[in-house]
Amino acid sequence: MARILLGVSGGIAAYKACEVCRLFVKAGHEVVPLVTPGAERFVTAETFRALARRPAGDDVYLHLTRADLLVVAPCTANTLAKLAHGLADNVLTEAALAHRGPVLVAPAMNPRMWSHPATRANAEALRARGIVLIGPDEGETAEGELGVGRMVEPDEIVRAAEELLAGNSKLKGKRVLVSAGGTREPIDTVRFVGNRSSGRMGVALAAEARRRGAHVTLLGANLAVPAPLGVELVETPTAADLEREAIERDADVVVMAAAVADYRPALALAGKRPKDTAAWTVELEPTTDVLATLGASKRPGQILVGFAADEGEPGLARAREKLGRKNADLFVYNDVGRADIGFDSAANEVTILTAGGERAVPKAPKDEIAAAILDEVEKLIH
Ligand code: CTP
Repeated sequence: MARILLGVSGGIAAYKACEVCRLFVKAGHEVVPLVTPGAERFVTAETFRALARRPAGDDVYLHLTRADLLVVAPCTANTLAKLAHGLADNVLTEAALAHRGPVLVAPAMNPRMWSHPATRANAEALRARGIVLIGPDEGETAEGELGVGRMVEPDEIVRAAEELLAGNSKLKGKRVLVSAGGTREPIDTVRFVGNRSSGRMGVALAAEARRRGAHVTLLGANLAVPAPLGVELVETPTAADLEREAIERDADVVVMAAAVADYRPALALAGKRPKDTAAWTVELEPTTDVLATLGASKRPGQILVGFAADEGEPGLARAREKLGRKNADLFVYNDVGRADIGFDSAANEVTILTAGGERAVPKAPKDEIAAAILDEVEKLIH
């Protein structure tokens, strides 16, 4: 997900910035709070550090932190003027000069201050520079005056921020279906045949697609991690559930990151089988290959992504073969022979295969791998 600089300047609306911070964190973003001395009169920097789950301590280069987005909420008349004129007298205004990338500003001030020609001109100067202003809203201000000056609500700021982060992604507005986790095929009512997939990779892909502005449905098979905010979660604990839910949905991009069981017990016993000394033979029957089924009925323009968990060079060769056989557009090859990546780990290292070639993505956190995969998916969208 994205790294967001959250600039908080000194107005009473600073308390609402706590909620903005919390919502960003909940959505999976990394937040770097930049709290001005003026804002500290209302809410302490410590509050934001706690909400953003950042370690305490003074980073002298905090203002130089590279980020995907700068959000200033609330932006007082004073800070607005400083931003318009390029002043750099505190951590927030310094960061604004050092930041490269989109900026979202949520002004909050007394209505007479907002309507003053000086403030109007400053706001215009920022807009002319491509900075996005959101609000202020009309209503009653904290001091009891009616007019335009209230900061827009935190959820609206977060929505606007997500829009900016999505930028010009080709996934914006697209329907993306992601399966994640590992299915469990019941043997009786308490036992199952399962696998070690945690769902982290698929969840990272769902979060990244959401960040790029897609409408994401996540088919979750026994996820060990929570689904990202803003993503529709459909629980699909078994291969049969996953098959049913995947087939009935129409999506522009389908990412089959789930480890779907290839076999299930032919007969799931009703109740729990009591222990005895006899051997127990369980007959397994093949499940439907969901990806291959989707591949066989793929409509023009639809993009199918498969995952292959295998070992070494021979595994890579098998993944290449699966790309063609399952009529997929992209395959992500995961070398499960290595202990330091894949399954339960937070990091991964993959090779992305398409008809056009291969791209090796070096070991990185799963959210970065997700971004690399979706970059390649975007290249396939016309
Ligand atoms: N898949 C599927 N339905 C299944 C099994 C797998 O849609 N019943 C999908 C997986 O989600 C994944 C890809 O197919 O995207 C994996 O293909 P698979 O042939 O199962 O490969 P592996 O499990 O990696 O390896 P193997 O062929 O050894 O089973």
